[in-house]
Amino acid sequence: MSGTVERRPLRLLVLNGPNLDLLGEREPAIYGRETLAEINAGIAARAAELGIAVDFFQSNHEGVLIDRLHRRDFDAAIVNAAGLTHTSVSLRDALLAVERPFVEVHLSDPATREPFRRVNFLADVAVARFVGLRAHGYTLALEELARRWTADLIPARAWDGEDANG
Ligand code: DQA
Repeated sequence: MSGTVERRPLRLLVLNGPNLDLLGEREPAIYGRETLAEINAGIAARAAELGIAVDFFQSNHEGVLIDRLHRRDFDAAIVNAAGLTHTSVSLRDALLAVERPFVEVHLSDPATREPFRRVNFLADVAVARFVGLRAHGYTLALEELARRWTADLIPARAWDGEDANG
C-alpha cells in the first residue's frame, strides 16, 4: 500500500469559555479590539483554505462546555477555556475523557499576568499551546492541527454510528 489514501476533512471544534463573548469591548488593552465573531470569521476562512470542517462554540458555563465536549462529534479541538483554565479540574477531566487532542489558546499570556493565572489545569494535557498572540494564536493552532491531521497523527473519530471516513 502506498499509504496515500486521502483522509476525510478534519472535524474541528473551537471551544471558547467564559467572557470571551465580550471580546472587542472587554479589556481591549489586554485582549485587543477584535470581537469573537470577527476572530471566528478569520478561523473559518483559513479552515476553508485548509479543508477543515469547523464548529464554533462559546459558553459562560462550565457544565455547558463540558456537555459540548461530551458530544464527541469532532476529531480535535482548539480550546480557550478563559478563566476556567486556572480553576477547572472538571474541564480538564472532560478533555481527557473524550480522548480528542486539543490545542490550548489564549489571546494574552496568562503567565505574565497576575500570579493566580499561573495555575493552569490544561497546559500539560494540550498537544500544543499558543499564548499571547491575540487572535493569531487561533490560526496557528488551526495550522498545527491541520499538519497533525495530514501527518496521520490524529485518529478520525466516528460517532452516532457514522463511518470514521465518511
Ligand atoms: C484568556 C486568559 C485568561 O487568564 C482569562 O481568564 C481570560 C482570557 C486569554 O485568552 O487571554 O478570560 O484565556
